[in-house]
Amino acid sequence: MSKALSELLFLGNASDLSSERGVSCTGELPPPSDPDLVERAMSAKTQLGNSTLILGHHYQRDEVIQFADITGDSFKLAQAAAQRSESEYIVFCGVHFMAESADILTSDSQQVILPDLAAGCSMADMASADQVNSAWNEFEKLGITKKTVPITYMNSTAAIKSFTGENGGAVCTSSNAERAMRWAFEKGEKVFFLPDQHLGRNTAVLKLGLKLEDCVVWNPWKPRGGLTDQEILDAKVILWRGHCSVHGRFTLDNVVSMRKQIPDIQILVHPECVHDVVKSADVVGSTEMIIRTIREAKPGTTWAVGTELNLVKRLADENRDKRILFLEKTVCYCSTMNRIDLPHLVWALESLVKGKVINPIKVTPRVAKNARVALERMLALP
Ligand code: 13P
Ligand code: SF4
Repeated sequence: MSKALSELLFLGNASDLSSERGVSCTGELPPPSDPDLVERAMSAKTQLGNSTLILGHHYQRDEVIQFADITGDSFKLAQAAAQRSESEYIVFCGVHFMAESADILTSDSQQVILPDLAAGCSMADMASADQVNSAWNEFEKLGITKKTVPITYMNSTAAIKSFTGENGGAVCTSSNAERAMRWAFEKGEKVFFLPDQHLGRNTAVLKLGLKLEDCVVWNPWKPRGGLTDQEILDAKVILWRGHCSVHGRFTLDNVVSMRKQIPDIQILVHPECVHDVVKSADVVGSTEMIIRTIREAKPGTTWAVGTELNLVKRLADENRDKRILFLEKTVCYCSTMNRIDLPHLVWALESLVKGKVINPIKVTPRVAKNARVALERMLALP
């Protein structure tokens, strides 16, 4: 084990996130013990050539990411899917909402494949279309829908993106949430931000300079969101009560104890972390920006990174001239991202070689229409 890796080594248990979406694989899935998996993936990829584009989110395992034609954060991968009209198949090594977005942004003649259908996202599962529609109905009764602009984080189902597009809003990712929120405030007086309360709060307060009291949290499990009419009327930002089960585990204590142990350490976190963590960090950014920050950092500097473990391990391996630590000992991999492993990738690629499309992701045209509007508004943001 490398020094960089052993330093990080706080490998927790797999988290309990799970978004089981039916049976994901059949008996054709190769066993993980097959010693030829790498060779099989390489051979299938070569045979498929330009017909197939493999996209890999930065949280994917090394064994998978090595086969990606393009790696990126969720914004970069959505852009890549929208631009690659020549690829008949897009094998999306990421999670379900990312594959759905790719399907919406690609043409009808292209097919998006998710190697394991159980690769969901617990945050996306925290906002159902029924819950969001019933919140909007409450806003309607209060007469605020005309001045409220929905902004939905990419980490949401296609149905929520569709609701957003239909009601004048846009999608955002962690790399453009500030721009999206500013755009929304140019169009209206209030923002309905879903499903990640932390990204919404961090953007509103730390980027736009709003006060914490300007934000209220809509709890879909309580009548009228658990808020009074006046609280809803007074709020500038109505945050959905959702969060990431991985990033939500980093705490202010982690930051304080890291700083105590290593006084010159710099703390770098993803904006899905809770407000106190983000507020006390030195640098905050999307996965793409986290990678750039570490690559461009001065040799000899020390960083504690608060994001998914596959990425932090890779950063430590690739940047041996810096000391890269994981911000919290017990935070683990995103277990749903981790569902995509080499056997699933080999299964998806070899099936394509045989002319069989496994796990196609198809958003219904009714939902896709307005979801595309919301996604295209994001892609068009200045
Ligand atoms: P990025 O937008 O930074 O890729 O993040 C996606 C995600 O799921 C983070 O948990
Ligand atoms: Fe969803 Fe969090 Fe996993 Fe990202 S890290 S895919 S937000 S559960």
